[in-house]
Amino acid sequence: MDLGIAGKLALVTASSGGMGRNIAHSLAAEGANVVLFARSADKLQAVAEEIEKKHGVKAVAVAGSMLETADVRRLAGTLKELGGPDIVVLVTGRPPNPLRDTLDENDESRWTEAYQTQLWAVVQVMNAVAPLMLPRGWGRIIAVTSASAKEPMALHALSTVFRSGVAAYMKGLSKEIGHTGITINCVGPALIDTSHRTGKSAYTAEQTKHRESLTPLGRMGTQEELCGVIAFLASRQAGFVNGSTIQVEGGMGNSLF
Ligand SMILES: NC(=O)c1ccc[n+]([C@@H]2O[C@H](COP(=O)([O-])OP(=O)(O)OC[C@H]3O[C@@H](n4cnc5c(N)ncnc54)[C@H](OP(=O)(O)O)[C@@H]3O)[C@@H](O)[C@H]2O)c1
Repeated sequence: MDLGIAGKLALVTASSGGMGRNIAHSLAAEGANVVLFARSADKLQAVAEEIEKKHGVKAVAVAGSMLETADVRRLAGTLKELGGPDIVVLVTGRPPNPLRDTLDENDESRWTEAYQTQLWAVVQVMNAVAPLMLPRGWGRIIAVTSASAKEPMALHALSTVFRSGVAAYMKGLSKEIGHTGITINCVGPALIDTSHRTGKSAYTAEQTKHRESLTPLGRMGTQEELCGVIAFLASRQAGFVNGSTIQVEGGMGNSLF
């Protein structure tokens, strides 16, 4: 299926590694040019080079933090020079580590960090970047939240609270700017394999084993399975999916809708 995004310009945040990098690859594989944004300049440049080499598209690395206003403004400046983004995929850094039970989340600095990393980072990028999309008559905005925003998971209070905030923000924005031709959706992952992260897993070996048993499929999801859903939401064919969250969690949740 031709997703109809060849030649479009896609911003992917938090894309120097992990999910963001894989999402950027999957959009580039469909012919989209990409702008990458994360703090590690060297890693980001390496991702840009590997994308250009593998997919033959343009990949621009903008080093900076989603939490730094000056960096986000510089990102918006680069996007404007390139003609404005058609597609924005909002990935963020992780919530504070290690994970804790809800009543053990009694440290205000962890709540502040989680708010800034999960919610404010998204709002700050949207404030700077979404206005560039409005005059273009077509657009796709996709935020990566978490399955726990819909069905809270143990140990995930700091993620659940602020990622459901992102879902609410995105829903409101979809009502406000849908008339411009931009769709806005969220993807709520859980249990996606992150074995690319070495030496700093948020889970103990026992927790990891338990997590694999949480879906009827009895396994973790792959990065490819997550990226495929995001690429679809970025596509021409997804034009009537708007204001939704698509869960990518292998059937772990219990709700019907
Ligand atoms: N795996 C799952 O099942 C699952 C489920 C729900 C939610 N998620 C969420 O999905 C997101 C991505 O996960 P992942 O496994 O890919 O994480 P990861 O491997 O830790 O990568 C996080 C990325 O975020 C970037 N980043 C961190 N802080 C940033 C900032 N202030 N500004 C710009 N970029 C920043 C990092 O790059 P720099 O250090 O270079 O900035 C890195 O590229 C996380 O928020 C995670 O919590 C994952």
